[in-house]
Amino acid sequence: MTKSKTPARVFFTADTHFGHIGVMEMSKRDFASIEEHDEVLIANWNAVVGPNDTVWHLGDFAMKSSPERCQAIFARLRGRKCLVRGNHDRDRVLGLPWAEPPADLKVLKIPFEGGFQPGGHQEVVLTHYALRSWPAIHHNTLSLFGHTHASMPGTCRSCDVGVDAWNLRPVTLAEIVPWLRASPVEPEEWGIKRRQEAERARAAEQAA
Ligand SMILES: [Fe+2]
Repeated sequence: MTKSKTPARVFFTADTHFGHIGVMEMSKRDFASIEEHDEVLIANWNAVVGPNDTVWHLGDFAMKSSPERCQAIFARLRGRKCLVRGNHDRDRVLGLPWAEPPADLKVLKIPFEGGFQPGGHQEVVLTHYALRSWPAIHHNTLSLFGHTHASMPGTCRSCDVGVDAWNLRPVTLAEIVPWLRASPVEPEEWGIKRRQEAERARAAEQAA
């Protein structure tokens, strides 16, 4: 008998701020204590992430936590964990056993059907801070970011993947892509291509 195995998935999240009392007021996370906050975020993470999945954390993993507390929380979170560094990620976070060395910007090609690119994959550009322009923006790459705690609206190709924007849990492209498709806001840089197309159409019309 063959065992059925769920294929590994890729999740994104940011701004968990484990141990940071101030984040509860700042981001209106309604908990009685930071301990309760941390426990709920750990439970939410482990409710969706499987042991074979990968989670890209886009920064601000913990704040005002001891190195020991950071290590204890990290050890309880399921999956293969990678970090794109946030402004609050100091040695106690950078020194955790991430599956890859923490980076400031990461470009990934993720196997995914139903995205914005052909060939069964979707390229994503991962940063802590939000970008207005990013590599291969004209080729339907996506910009995923954190830091803004759901305060900055995305576009049809960019999105805050932080816990404040996604019910305090990590998300996959299967959830992000429909959200992007529903956004009427195009990245500004697409305007260049639109203007060129309009100019070419006008020239063709005049020549006819
Ligand atoms: Fe941040």
